[in-house]
Amino acid sequence: VKVLSVASECAPLVKTGGLADVVGALPAALAGQGVEMRVLLPGYRPVLGAVGKGKKLVDLPDFFGGKAVLRAGQAAGLDLIVLDAPHLFDREGTPYLDPANHDWPDNPERFAALSWAACLVAAGEAGTWRPDVVHAHDWQAGFAPYYLKAHFGAPVPSVLTIHNIAFHGVVPVDRMANLRIEAKDYDREGVEFWGQISALKAGLVYADRLTTVSPTYARELTRAEFGMGMDGVIRSRDADFVGILNGIDEEVWDPASDPQITAYKSAKGKARNKAALRKEFGLGEAEGPLCVVVSRLSDQKGLDLLLQALPALIDRGGQLALLGSGDPGLEVAFTHAAEAHDNIAVKIGYDEGLSHRMMAGGDAILVPSRFEPCGLTQLYGLRYGTVPVVALTGGLADTVIPASPAAIEAGVATGIQFHPVTADALAHALMQLVDLYHRPEDWARLQKNGMAQNVGWARSAAKYAEVYGELVAAA
Ligand code: ADP
Ligand code: GLC
Repeated sequence: VKVLSVASECAPLVKTGGLADVVGALPAALAGQGVEMRVLLPGYRPVLGAVGKGKKLVDLPDFFGGKAVLRAGQAAGLDLIVLDAPHLFDREGTPYLDPANHDWPDNPERFAALSWAACLVAAGEAGTWRPDVVHAHDWQAGFAPYYLKAHFGAPVPSVLTIHNIAFHGVVPVDRMANLRIEAKDYDREGVEFWGQISALKAGLVYADRLTTVSPTYARELTRAEFGMGMDGVIRSRDADFVGILNGIDEEVWDPASDPQITAYKSAKGKARNKAALRKEFGLGEAEGPLCVVVSRLSDQKGLDLLLQALPALIDRGGQLALLGSGDPGLEVAFTHAAEAHDNIAVKIGYDEGLSHRMMAGGDAILVPSRFEPCGLTQLYGLRYGTVPVVALTGGLADTVIPASPAAIEAGVATGIQFHPVTADALAHALMQLVDLYHRPEDWARLQKNGMAQNVGWARSAAKYAEVYGELVAAA
């Protein structure tokens, strides 16, 4: 099966979060399943820098307001198709934000162009390689399923994966023509969302199949508390909707060979990494566990709750090292907390290498998310013998086996889960963590169980292949 994966991020070329990791890992993960996957990406500077000119597939002289070229090339072991459109993507800043941290005003058009480009490839208008299925990720590719049906005569079926329902890709209706939306499709049953156009909804309505990144999040998305206004549409697609758990790249995240760390095969080998990490963060020795957080600082991640719950950890001899960036209020609050306590250290920024050293050096990783479609850092934690403390939600619920007395007794626990997602419940979880940490046998068992978990793509690759296979068979 040939699949064109369409996304706004792809590790290691361009990344703001887990979406990039997943998009970058899928092609290799699925190769063993007989899936040949190419990834269509916007021609951001780092992407074109890595791919170069590549092979020109088609000239698009007047494409969403400027000249563009579709190119094919390779980088980082990936087969890529790149939408080289300088008027849309040759910019400073992140994929979504200008250097002053505001959304680019033309984001809807930028990603509509990406979605249209996917259809050109699918329709055979860009070279000879044609996919059997288009796999769109999140709102940035949400118009692709719509365009395929509304403008291209549905040459191939499509799948939309929801990585995060919080981002709707909404656009005022006066940009309908720019976005190549047919007036008749601006409708409750179509792309309309509360008086605006939503690229995500377009994908939810028009894709032939929907997936999300964990089974629990799939169930949560059908409920009003988690659906963020899209739960009704998702319920209406129930028969076509499945949760497939993310994996992690087991080569990039391997404590036995990670070049960023002092490599280790059992959790005993963490000690040197812990000493080095303390040094890197300017932390001294402590009695309690060294907890780490590697995260976008956004409301989703529940880190405001951690600020409130921190005394439960710090007063019991624990430490916190946090790496993250995002919400300015949270950046300031964590920076202040670090100034006020010797046992709290914070680095504001984005640092891939440091994120590895934190997994290797930490005793525990904290993920107190209000919602979490899958979450990857708890999976890195498991692999590195860094005990996850997570909220009972989404993919966090599907990947951590909580240390209840029975699970400890049975020797299967891998971490700590708390519920409801409140500062109180998190504080209790942190107390439980400190307790467990002081019971060396139970602690070692937790680490060992975590390191033995299957966190790669093996368990999920076949499920994606099955979705594609069914679509192709039905086409
Ligand atoms: P989300 O996609 O919602 O941000 P995930 O847990 O799925 O959450 O993925 C986050 C990814 O981004 C992980 O690979 C994590 O290590 C990485 N990450 C987040 N913040 C930082 C940071 N400040 N520095 C380095 N890596 C980060
Ligand atoms: C999103 C989610 C995260 C998930 C990632 C990759 O960014 O917030 O939970 O792991 O996508 O699917």
